[in-house]
Amino acid sequence: MKALGVPYKGSKARIAEKIIDSLPPAEVFVDLFAGGCAVTHAAMLSQKYKRFIINDIDGRGADVFYRAAHGEEVPTDWVSREEFHKRKESDSFVAVIWSFNNDMNTYIYGAEVEEMKRAIHIAITEGDYTECERLNIPVKPCGFPLNQLFERRIAITSSIIELSDTLHNKQLAQALERVERIEAIRELQKAKALQRLESVQRLNYSDVEIPSNAVIYCDIPYRDTNVGGYDVIDYEDFYEWCEQQDNPIFISEYFMPSERFKVYKSWQVHQTSAGKGKIATATESLYIPKAHNGLPYGQLTVFDY
Ligand SMILES: C[S@@+](CC[C@H](N)C(=O)[O-])C[C@H]1O[C@@H](n2cnc3c(N)ncnc32)[C@H](O)[C@@H]1O
Repeated sequence: MKALGVPYKGSKARIAEKIIDSLPPAEVFVDLFAGGCAVTHAAMLSQKYKRFIINDIDGRGADVFYRAAHGEEVPTDWVSREEFHKRKESDSFVAVIWSFNNDMNTYIYGAEVEEMKRAIHIAITEGDYTECERLNIPVKPCGFPLNQLFERRIAITSSIIELSDTLHNKQLAQALERVERIEAIRELQKAKALQRLESVQRLNYSDVEIPSNAVIYCDIPYRDTNVGGYDVIDYEDFYEWCEQQDNPIFISEYFMPSERFKVYKSWQVHQTSAGKGKIATATESLYIPKAHNGLPYGQLTVFDY
């Protein structure tokens, strides 16, 4: 699986390519609830669209995607709990990289491990081992240069795991999620194709100006199981707005009222429930409105049922 978009709560990265494969081509791809932009990223790689409009009312995930795709350096500095809470609203890199479960709201590390995580983080990103020594975290200095973050992370964490006789130290080294997240975002800088992106809009979905010859994709906060904890939308208004669109529109949802929407495609997705290691299967569906300005949706030649 390709790494698509930036790490984001409720990301569609796992099925983004399947979603795009099933949508019709057009001039413009419009991602109105873009989140971390996994689906836009897949759309850009697909070559089916020439222009991309990305919007999200929060916009922090999309902002990180946009800035990384335009080559902005991803900051590797340690961010403490206090700084996180001061900066999370205004600094999208801080919110995305340093939040627990990518929720952009809760700090990543528990207070009891923060100091030790910081020591290991600084050893990896700055090559400074003094904090590790002070805290008695056994670590072998690493020969890789500072810009080889991936190699440094593997070498340093492996050395801690090998040299530690406490399970606590081994676990601390294993779960260095922040560095992994920085690496994932850095990968976007390599994808030249992503620079075609137009700037991110932070509007309510219905305020976005949509040109003709567009395909609209909506990954709305799910109605009954808003797992991401996003601000909910007024679903009745949203359904009505969908029915008024002049362009083909596709909505990701678990369930939509069957008298107004029908399933266009669905996929079985395996999910591991956090902490329990249990695998559950969920059905992810793409819906389309049954009525389209009074026309049955199926009469539009662009669709292939
Ligand atoms: C399920 S997430 C999208 C995830 C995205 N597809 C991805 O792969 O990363 C839903 C997004 O809808 C956004 N949102 C919620 N209400 C909105 C509104 N009224 N207009 C635009 N975006 C909204 C949230 O900020 C959130 O990022």
